[in-house]
Amino acid sequence: MLIQDILRRKRDAEALDADAIHTFMRGVADGSVGDAQIGAFAMAVVLNGMNRDEAIALTEATRDSGQVLRWHDLHLDGPVLDKHSTGGVGDLVSLVLGPWIAACGGHVPMISGRGLGHTGGTLDKLEAIPGYDVTPDDARFRRLVKDVGVAIIGQTGTLAPADKRLYGVRDVTATVESLPLIVASILGKKLACGLDTLVMDVKVGNGAFMPTAEASRELAEAIVAIGSSAGTPTSVLLTDMNQPLADCAGNALEVHEALRLLRGEGRDSRLYRVTHALATEMLVQAGLATDADDAAIRLETALASGEALERFARMVHGLGGPSDLAERPAHYLAPAPCTTEVVAPRAGTVNAIDTRALGLGVVELGGGRRNAGDAIDPRVGLSHITPLGERVEAGQPLLRLHAASQTDADAVSRRLREAFTLGEPDPAVPTSLIHATLR
Ligand code: URA
Repeated sequence: MLIQDILRRKRDAEALDADAIHTFMRGVADGSVGDAQIGAFAMAVVLNGMNRDEAIALTEATRDSGQVLRWHDLHLDGPVLDKHSTGGVGDLVSLVLGPWIAACGGHVPMISGRGLGHTGGTLDKLEAIPGYDVTPDDARFRRLVKDVGVAIIGQTGTLAPADKRLYGVRDVTATVESLPLIVASILGKKLACGLDTLVMDVKVGNGAFMPTAEASRELAEAIVAIGSSAGTPTSVLLTDMNQPLADCAGNALEVHEALRLLRGEGRDSRLYRVTHALATEMLVQAGLATDADDAAIRLETALASGEALERFARMVHGLGGPSDLAERPAHYLAPAPCTTEVVAPRAGTVNAIDTRALGLGVVELGGGRRNAGDAIDPRVGLSHITPLGERVEAGQPLLRLHAASQTDADAVSRRLREAFTLGEPDPAVPTSLIHATLR
C-alpha cells in the first residue's frame, strides 16, 4: 500500500481502514515514512477528522508501534492499573495515588511526563529528590512494580515510538488540536504499558489543556469509548482546574505536599478529595474493592497504617533516592533562597484565578522549561495560594513566592498579583471539584 495513496484518501475525506492506518504508523515508527508525509497526514486528520473506527485503529497502531509491556510472567498478586492526567497546575496526584494504590494491592507501572507549557510534570517533581532515577533499566522497573507495587518513571524509547515522531511533527505544524490525534497519542502510550484498567483525569477550566469545558467533555467521552474498544476498560473523571489543585506549585514544594498527604494530613484539601476520588474509581474498576464504601475502607487503612507512605519511600529508595526521605524531607528538599509574599492590592473575594498565569509564573521562576533541555530549579515555586471564594483584606498575602533571588521574585510578582480577580462575593464562581465520572 503506497503511503501517498493513504494520504490522498485522507486528504479527500475518505475513511481509512485499519490496515492503512497500521501501515502508515508502522512506517512512522521504522522511519520509512518521512516528516513531510507525517505532516500531511496530521493536517488531513485535523481538517477532515476521523470516525470512531479510524480513531480506534490509530490508537491501537500507536500502542503497537513499539514494545507492549507484558506482566503475566511475573505472576503478580493483583491487577496492573494506572491513572493519567491531561495536566494542570499544582497537580501532584500521581505522587500520592501510585503508592496509595500499591498499598491497596494494585501494581502501578506509571510512565509519566515532564512539564509542558504552564503545566507541571511528575518527572520534574520526582527529580527534586536527590538521586531519583527516572530512567532505570527494564529489570529494575519490573522488579519495583512487582515488589513495591509502584514505579513512576519516564517514557522509554521503546514504548509507542510512533507517537514520539508524530507528536514532534504535530508540534511544529499546528496540528496538535485534533481529537483523534490527541486520544491516540495519550492512550497509545498508556495502553502500551500492558494495563488491565485505566482511569483518566481530564481537567476542565482555565488551567486545563483543552480550551473549553465542552472540549474537555468531548475528549473524556472519546477516551472512554476508544480505550475500552482497544481492550482496556477506561473511565474518566472530569475534574476542576480553574485554580491550582494543591495550594502550592513547584517541584520540591509539591514533593513536600505529597509526603504530607501520605502521612494522612490535609484531608480537607481539594488535592486529597480528587486523589481519593480517582483512587476509588481505580480500586472498584480493577476489582480491588467491591464498591465505593469498600474502597474508602481500604484507602483509609492504607493511609492510617503508614503503608502508602512506606510504598512511596520504598519506590524512591528503589530508584536511587535516599532511604529516609519520609523522615527527613527538609534535609533533602532544599528551600529556595528567597521567599516573599504577593499581597492583595485591595480587599475582596477571590472570584477568579488565572491558573495558566500561575503555572507560567513557576516556569519563569525556573521551576519549568522555556526550551526543551533547560535545567530546572527544584526549589522555586508558589505556596499558600489563596483559593477561589476566599476573602482577603488589602495587604494580605495572595500567595507566597519561592525564588532563587529577589530579582527573580520582583520580575514575576506583579503578573502573579494580577492573576487574582478580587470583587464582591460571586455565587457564579466555580466551586465544583469533580464535574462528572464517565464509564
Ligand atoms: N498529550 C499527549 O501526550 N499527546 C497529545 O496529543 C496531547 C497531549
